[in-house]
Amino acid sequence: MPFITSSISTQNKAWAVILAAGEGRRLGGACPKQFLSWRSKPLYWHSARAFSACACIEGLVFAFPAEYLERESRWLRSLGSDLGLPWHAITGGATRQESSRLALKAIPQNASKVLIHDAARPFLTPELIWRVCSAITSQSPNIAPAIPVNDTIKLVCENSPSLVEATLPRHRLAAIQTPQGFSAPLLREAHAKAAAQGYEATDDAALLEYVGHPVELVEGLRANLKITTPDDLERLMETDPRLPCSGFGYDVHRFGQERPLRLGGVEIPSPTGILAHSDGDVLLHALIDAILGCACLGDIGQHFPDSDPTLEGINSAILLDQALTLAKKAGVEILQADITIVAQKPKLAPWREQIRRNVASLLGLPKERVNVKATTEEGLGFTGAQEGIKAFALVNGWRNLPITTVADQ
Ligand code: CTP
Ligand code: MG
Repeated sequence: MPFITSSISTQNKAWAVILAAGEGRRLGGACPKQFLSWRSKPLYWHSARAFSACACIEGLVFAFPAEYLERESRWLRSLGSDLGLPWHAITGGATRQESSRLALKAIPQNASKVLIHDAARPFLTPELIWRVCSAITSQSPNIAPAIPVNDTIKLVCENSPSLVEATLPRHRLAAIQTPQGFSAPLLREAHAKAAAQGYEATDDAALLEYVGHPVELVEGLRANLKITTPDDLERLMETDPRLPCSGFGYDVHRFGQERPLRLGGVEIPSPTGILAHSDGDVLLHALIDAILGCACLGDIGQHFPDSDPTLEGINSAILLDQALTLAKKAGVEILQADITIVAQKPKLAPWREQIRRNVASLLGLPKERVNVKATTEEGLGFTGAQEGIKAFALVNGWRNLPITTVADQ
């Protein structure tokens, strides 16, 4: 596909419009897709960042649904100088075309160039912005990025979409993306005419075609996808970086004769046992709390209350297994655990390696990623008085953050 090319210059800067006023009906979900959180920021923000990285951009206009205008304006204002560009936020219209038309009113009257971009394309790069922006000239005032079509495209019958009417010549087809770049006065004119004559289209270039102005193509970017249907969410998952996470756990058990002393699933010969509802494995309880901490899932008491009669005397290895399943569902992968047991008696050094091996196997980790330490408190406190035993656990892992809606700021 022969594309037009041009050299980069910062002459004649452009205003950019980010269309973020749709409902995202095809995607569904709790909020319109442009407000999904990706890399801890709303989706539309990523396009804004790409524009703000380009010296050819003079300012930005955001079109939001009426009910989001105030919240998003507040959020954008709270970022202060982060954008480094003047910006305005407006209420969009009932259609994409109407949002674009209204946004044009918010750019300065004397602006010569304008770029219109879908907020639902978060993978936009500064390179593509430069390519579009610098291709706009007085001879080529209307520019759209395009990528060659790889699939064979068939035209289906108007009244029977499962029936093929014709096969289109693939070498003449192009998939069109945004940002599209225009001479601002020409685009305004095309919008006015289309609105007056009731012509509707799914992109701005079509309006220029409608009023008889040529639209020229520059090379698009395959990665510059539009998030449209639920399948597309995988693109956000794949590119979302995993974040390191850590969780801390602490537990205490009183000595008594109710249960044998068990630490990390290993039964330790001891003149004193443990008082507990479950098997009283203080080490595993601290470890479970640390795992739940990694996944921000509360604590052991919430998930396994000691008022639950089915948990009477339960092997804590079973609880650990359930905590690991919960953490996995929350996108957490446990990498390493460091555990400290505090007891005046019995002496734990002879059992340290066995406990370590057992805990590693319960966590499904090589033993090199599990550390078990034991210490006394020099005769001080309740451990020193041999009234009980305590354990600390620190767990580290990776966390894939789920795609969520942005909470009210
Ligand atoms: N858009 C807009 N105003 C509208 C409709 C759409 O600003 N009234 C924006 C969307 O927010 C999106 C872009 O135009 O960034 C492309 O439109 P599309 O992918 O169709 O998004 P939606 O209209 O939101 O989705 P759907 O058609 O599935 O409802
Ligand atoms: Mg739409």
